[in-house]
Amino acid sequence: MATTDNQSESVVHILTETRRYPPPQGFAEQANLRDPGVYERAREDPETFWASVAEELHWDQPWDRVMNWTPPTVEWFTGGKLNASYNCVDRHLDGAQRTKPAIVWEGEPPGEERTLTYEDLYREVNRAALMLRSLGVEKGDRVSIYLPMVPELPIAMLACARIGATHSVVFGGFSPDSLADRINDGEAKVLITADGGYRRGKVVPLKENADKALEKTPSVRKVVTVERLGRDKYPVNMLENRDIWWHEAMASVTESECPPEPLDAEHPLYTLYTSGTTGKPKGLLHTTGGYLVGTYLTTKWVFDLKEDDIYWCTADIGWVTGHSYVVYGPLANGATTVMYEGTPDYPDKDRFWDIVERRKVSVLYTAPTAIRGFMGWGAEYADKHDLSSLRLLGSVGEPINPEAWVWYHEHIGRERCPIVDTWWQTETGMILISPLPGLTTTKPGSATIPLPGIEPDIVDDHGNSVGVGQDGYLVLKRPWPSIARSIWGDPERYVAQYFSKYGPEVYVTGDGARRDEEGYYWLMGRVDDVLNVAGHRLGTMELESALVSHEAVAEAAVIGIPHSVKGQGIAAFCRLRSGIEPRDDLRQQLREHVAKKVGSIARPDNVYLVAELPKTRSAKIMRRLLRDIAEGKVVGDTTTLTDPAVLEDIKRNYGGAEATE
Ligand code: PRX
Repeated sequence: MATTDNQSESVVHILTETRRYPPPQGFAEQANLRDPGVYERAREDPETFWASVAEELHWDQPWDRVMNWTPPTVEWFTGGKLNASYNCVDRHLDGAQRTKPAIVWEGEPPGEERTLTYEDLYREVNRAALMLRSLGVEKGDRVSIYLPMVPELPIAMLACARIGATHSVVFGGFSPDSLADRINDGEAKVLITADGGYRRGKVVPLKENADKALEKTPSVRKVVTVERLGRDKYPVNMLENRDIWWHEAMASVTESECPPEPLDAEHPLYTLYTSGTTGKPKGLLHTTGGYLVGTYLTTKWVFDLKEDDIYWCTADIGWVTGHSYVVYGPLANGATTVMYEGTPDYPDKDRFWDIVERRKVSVLYTAPTAIRGFMGWGAEYADKHDLSSLRLLGSVGEPINPEAWVWYHEHIGRERCPIVDTWWQTETGMILISPLPGLTTTKPGSATIPLPGIEPDIVDDHGNSVGVGQDGYLVLKRPWPSIARSIWGDPERYVAQYFSKYGPEVYVTGDGARRDEEGYYWLMGRVDDVLNVAGHRLGTMELESALVSHEAVAEAAVIGIPHSVKGQGIAAFCRLRSGIEPRDDLRQQLREHVAKKVGSIARPDNVYLVAELPKTRSAKIMRRLLRDIAEGKVVGDTTTLTDPAVLEDIKRNYGGAEATE
């Protein structure tokens, strides 16, 4: 990666200006982890380190080998058998933990709430596992789950894990097409959905969407529908012999216990789809033992979990953050995990702080995009509430700008709470770069240092480590237990995507980064054609395919543009088919078309209808120039452009700043 002298100078400047926040005194003294020696021990003997963590979980059969690495393939805890649902539920049924709240749920409509103790969760998961079996689901089968943030979602996941079925959760904001693609890729036998969910006061018609998807998903034999909204108010179609209500199916289960299946450590626990650089999302495959060890440990250390913590990760379970840090990590630790169905501004912009105050949340894990949203609304919404229960704050999903970090520290943490800025990915399964709150001095905007046992590096195009303060590609040089093992149905793509650039031993993250003189990592965002919009990954190719599937569009190019809340926004440049007039209502239609095709998170902020896209002589679209136009900047070097007049045309007719929503 080329770094200009100017850039490195500005880095040095930023770094010397950076404020430092050592762990607050009382906090450091009482943290779970106060021994810095753990870093060295893990470095010297990572396998012994990970084995000592794994021993804290329940294994039905011990492993023969901690790590079996034939690059790029890796297995963890080979020969061991365990069950993720047993570790997340049954393991906590002794003594006082039995009646401890496992899941504290709030619906979006104020006043709707449910609490499930570990005992309740045990009962529900067993029943749901038996129900799935009665529907013909067997070990090794795939089950797709398309639910809002309701307790049935973790229950369904854990029920799958209990019988060895592989779950594939699809975010409720995804469109019927996206759902169908994901179901078909995994050839799921059963789909679990709901009549709908609430989002910002509106109903999201999940069953209706699912019905559309189900028109083209031949593998699905049964559809189980959770009644979230109510049959009277929101009737849905139920197809005879295929569709059943969750509560009826659960009620018809006659037994109460479903013994957990002892599963190989490498048994597929779940697949989760994420956007890549091609149009087709990748189904990352996570397996049982390593994933659970990784999420268990990182939840315990990064969030310094204690017996009486009320822990709230605000992510939707449809994303990896929800899988690892709403469900598996906290439950493996026997923690109380809060789940909230809706948006932060419903019924008012203080909803999060209202929940923190009423529930006495002590650990809060959210995204920079949410924090920037709160900043924009003003501190008064948080100031109205007693936030004294909070003791630790987390951030995830995208680089957090120092201003947002400091605002979070001052207005939410009230200068008492350490902030953990956690870097990781769907592929990594667990947090890899993050402060440990009792040990690490933090710097706003840096995810700080790798966790024990993790070995990142920042390299140039040839794989050589770059110097202090220089830009490079973030890679990982040694496997960790929860690394995704494959891409479902496409192992070659897995190797090509992650392990080909620098050889089979080096995992390529797709992120750019710099390291400062103290070894702190500063993440710079994606270096591939993947956007990060409000913490969600979207491939530009996926969006471009959605645009050209519209009858009016001949060719499209999508780029990311800076956005004050979402981090990145989406700008789409479309060349129309001949004879089609560029009209304003068409731009709006195209925005809606993408939202319908992919999901509302993918709705472009700006659509430019252009006569030609700027291309090089080798027919490559010059995204850099489009970016300059969208940002209203002076357009850079155009010497390689086939037809410079194209650019003039775009600038004249379509360029300049547009209002983003
Ligand atoms: O670019 C990085 C960014 O989010 C990407 C991973 O996205 P996804 O797989 O959807 O998982 C999101 C939740 C882990 C990364 O490649 N990213 C995530 N966390 C951070 C981050 N960038 C900077 N700082 C972070 N803390």
